[in-house]
Amino acid sequence: MLNKVNIRWVEETDSTQDEVRRHISEYDNMSVVAARFQTAGRGQRGNKWVARKGENLTFSMLLKFGPDGFPPLAAADQFRITRAATIGTALYLASVGVECSIKWPNDIYVRDKKICGMLIENILEGDKLGQSIVGIGLNVNQRDFPPQLINPTSMAVVTKKEYDTREELEQLSGYLASSFERILGKDHVPGSDHEYENRLYRKGYFHDFVRCSDGTVFKARIIGVTPGGLLQTENDKGELNEFAFKEISYII
Ligand code: BTN
Repeated sequence: MLNKVNIRWVEETDSTQDEVRRHISEYDNMSVVAARFQTAGRGQRGNKWVARKGENLTFSMLLKFGPDGFPPLAAADQFRITRAATIGTALYLASVGVECSIKWPNDIYVRDKKICGMLIENILEGDKLGQSIVGIGLNVNQRDFPPQLINPTSMAVVTKKEYDTREELEQLSGYLASSFERILGKDHVPGSDHEYENRLYRKGYFHDFVRCSDGTVFKARIIGVTPGGLLQTENDKGELNEFAFKEISYII
């Protein structure tokens, strides 16, 4: 059975990430704030996240650690949050008939197109997690996209159906909460690394990547992801490498 999650909808805000942060002490663990429209939605690598009003899901789920939330989580283990969020989203999408993969570290792809992006902002207390704000932008009903987006898709494009965004958020939040309980909770089951890797986009085949520091293009195949979240690759000379998020980007 899926968890029932406390969801607060707002008509408009700057970013649901900031909306959660402003009221962080008022929200319980796994509360969700969703906006019909964000005026300053934020993406990864300092990008903006733009979604047409009311057509998609833009929301943030607060995770708390310690006495009023999940068991303490070491900062070194924070990639477990990424695994749980991506696996929960992938399971939800499978439940509505959308087969997807996880593009390391936390994009969700349908074939070569992006359907969902995540921005996970962790608030550390010493060497442990205090809170994590998991921001998710899922393209739901939008069917045409601005040309500057390279490879977007949506649930409506994939399934040719129209969705009630409120109902879908209840379902998705339930899948996320179950995944967080399973991977971060006190009885957490080891093995989320395999669940994540089994869904990894472009795992095992040679593809082109760009090294961000100098723009060089190289061929490599993804072997896996370390427990700390580094991408493990093998190049065409058989050399093994590990990359952090900002060191490498995919050519798609
Ligand atoms: C990305 O792929 O670049 C990450 C996109 C994350 C967007 C979501 S929408 C809800 C939440 N609020 C934000 O400002 N960003 C995240």
